Amino acid sequence: MSDTPVLAAEDLVVEFPVPGGVFRAVDGVGFAVGRGRTLAVVGESGCGKSTLARALVRLLTPVSGRILLDGQDIARLPERRLRPLRPKIQMVFQDPYGSLDPRMTAAEIVAEPLRMRGLASRERRAAEAAELIDRVGLPSSALERRPPEFSGGQRQRIGIARALASRPEVLVCDEVTSALDVSVQAQMIELLREIQRETGIAYLFISHNLGVVREISDEVMVMRGGRTVESGPTARVLTAPGHPYTRALRGAALDPSAMRGRKPRAVLAAALAPAEEGAAR
Ligand SMILES: Nc1ncnc2c1ncn2[C@@H]1O[C@H](COP(=O)(O)OP(=O)(O)OP(=O)(O)O)[C@@H](O)[C@H]1O
Ligand SMILES: [Mg+2]
Repeated sequence: MSDTPVLAAEDLVVEFPVPGGVFRAVDGVGFAVGRGRTLAVVGESGCGKSTLARALVRLLTPVSGRILLDGQDIARLPERRLRPLRPKIQMVFQDPYGSLDPRMTAAEIVAEPLRMRGLASRERRAAEAAELIDRVGLPSSALERRPPEFSGGQRQRIGIARALASRPEVLVCDEVTSALDVSVQAQMIELLREIQRETGIAYLFISHNLGVVREISDEVMVMRGGRTVESGPTARVLTAPGHPYTRALRGAALDPSAMRGRKPRAVLAAALAPAEEGAAR
């Protein structure tokens, strides 16, 4: 059991209806994440990272493929059978503002999943919510405040506390650091690593920041146009990328000046042109 990946995907396909047909945003993706491990998913804007994340936590239903959570395929389970499994896999969203109800206090937001977990006593829920708020590094004065009164980094912490309230085995983190300044980013990474050491939680960590990815992940999967172009141990993929696209991505990420005034796609296309030739050697 312990060597069963806590989360795996096989040949996952996600499509959206668009005028005149469907758009395939995730096109045959597969990976496996072990307990207590971190898999990073990288790739340029629009390559399908958030769509993959939403499918994994079953906010979307894939058209085909498997999602194995603790070995059980949840890809197409109906909601009724999914509900008891949902606590095992939680997500922290790319936009912490949009994903937290602005009318609820932080204490209420974090206590909500505790009720779902079956904690009947209001006092116990309040006590555990307070513990979680403390765990993510917010002061107790945060408990009675509402999302609009927090900074972006504080809202991300509330999102993490809410996710942890379900005691998940896997946490899908969608660009949790991208809206934060560099020092807050570093604090967030440290917090996630501490939580992983304490709980053995696994992360699927989506980011376009390769510096952050290098810090946090054991393995990296590179996506392009809904497909996996490369995956493997972080050190190998980031230091000796085998695919021209990964090299281009790395080049664009390492040279922010190359991005100035240009669309990432244009930077990648430019970086990719010579690399593509080189790969033919
Ligand atoms: N509801 C939808 N209907 C139609 N197309 C969609 C929908 N949601 C996403 N897409 C398309 O699917 C593709 C992947 O989008 P997605 O949000 O997964 O990209 P991403 O890799 O997360 O990008 P970013 O780095 O900008 O967050 C994009 O081309 C997007 O326009
Ligand atoms: Mg996204």
